[in-house]
Amino acid sequence: MTVEPAAYSDEVLSVRGLGTRYAFQGASVPAVRDFSLSVREGEIVGLVGESGSGKSTVLKSILGMLKPPAEVTSDGIFLDGRDLREVSAKEMRRIRGGRLAMVFQDPINSFNPAWTIGNQFRRVLSLHCPHLHRRDYDAEILRLLNRVGIDGRGKLNSYPFEFSQGQLQRIMIAVACASPDLRVLLADEPTTSLDVTIEAQVLELLRDLREERGLAMVLVTHDLSVVAEMCDKVVVMYAGRVVEVAEVHDLFERPQHPYTRQLLKAIPDFPHDGRRLYAMRGAVPRLDEEVPGCTFAPRCDAHLGDVCDEVPPVLREIGPDGRRSACHKANHATSLEETDDGVR
Ligand SMILES: Nc1ncnc2c1ncn2[C@@H]1O[C@H](COP(=O)(O)OP(=O)(O)OP(=O)(O)O)[C@@H](O)[C@H]1O
Ligand SMILES: [Mg+2]
Repeated sequence: MTVEPAAYSDEVLSVRGLGTRYAFQGASVPAVRDFSLSVREGEIVGLVGESGSGKSTVLKSILGMLKPPAEVTSDGIFLDGRDLREVSAKEMRRIRGGRLAMVFQDPINSFNPAWTIGNQFRRVLSLHCPHLHRRDYDAEILRLLNRVGIDGRGKLNSYPFEFSQGQLQRIMIAVACASPDLRVLLADEPTTSLDVTIEAQVLELLRDLREERGLAMVLVTHDLSVVAEMCDKVVVMYAGRVVEVAEVHDLFERPQHPYTRQLLKAIPDFPHDGRRLYAMRGAVPRLDEEVPGCTFAPRCDAHLGDVCDEVPPVLREIGPDGRRSACHKANHATSLEETDDGVR
C-alpha cells in the first residue's frame, strides 16, 4: 500500500495504522491495534492509559525494537517524511539513538551490566557524534551527566549496579540526548523512579531541549499532573486502542470519552477533602479476550446499551485541532457542546 509522506512540513513523526501482536500461550494476540500518531517539531505528545494498555509496545514498535515472534505491521512510520519500514537494518542502527531515541521504563535492564557506564556512553558518542574527537569524549559525558544533575567525576568506571535506580534513569536520559541530530525522543515513564526535586529538574531539561533544538517528544506517563505541565497534545489508550486524542487543555476541561473522564476522576484533589478516592471498577481485558463491542463497555459508567456491547466504536473526528474520540456516545452527538456535561 502506498501512503503519502507526512502531511505537514513541520511534522517530524507520523505513525499510521500501527498494529503489534505478541506470542502468548502458543497464539498470536493483539497488544496494539490501528494506532496512529502525529508529532510536530517541538511538540510534546502525552501517551496515557492504564497499565497494560500498550504504551511501551507502541514506543518499541516505532523504534523497530520488537523481533519475532512479535509482529509489527503498519501503513507507515515516517521520521521527517522518511518511511522507517524502508530503511536497512544498518541505517536503522544509526537512526536509533541518533535522530530517534528512547528512554526506557526499566533503567537497570537498559544497560549492559558487564560494561562500565563510561564505556557504554563512549560507544554512543562514537556512533552518533562523529565530529567529536576521542580525547573530548569524557568531558562531553561529564557535561551531559551534569545536565541531568549527576556529577560524573570519578564515576565513569563504575558499573550499572553501582548506581541507584533514579541515577540510572537520569544517565539513560543523558545517553538518549547525546546525539546532536536528535529529532524525536520517545520517553517511557522517564521520571517514575525520581524524587520530586529531581523529577522537576529532569522535566525542566526536557523542556529546555524542546526550546533549544525544537526536539519533539512522545511522553508516556501515569502522572496526569506531568501531562498537564508538559504536553501539548494527549493520546489516551485503552486495551491497545486509541480512545481519545485532544489538545491538553481540552482534554482536562472537556474529556469526551468515558474512560478519560473516569481517569480524571481518579486524580486526588488537593487539599484533600477526606472523601475516598474514585477507583475505576473492573480491569483491562486480557489480550486473548475477544470483546465484540466497545472494549471499555463492561467498565463504562455512561453505557448506552446494546450498541456498546455489540458494535466496536470507530475513532472519529469530533472537533477541531484533531480532536477524536472512539465512543458511541460522543460519536452520536452532533457537536461537542451537546456532550459537554462535565465529568460524570
Ligand atoms: N514481550 C512480550 N510478550 C508477550 N506479551 C507482552 C510482551 N510485552 C508486553 N506484553 C503484553 O502486551 C500488553 C501491553 O504491554 P505494554 O508493556 O505495552 O503496556 P503499558 O501500557 O506500557 O503498561 P505499563 O503502564 O504497565 O508500563 C500487556 O498485556 C503485556 O502483558
Ligand atoms: Mg509500559
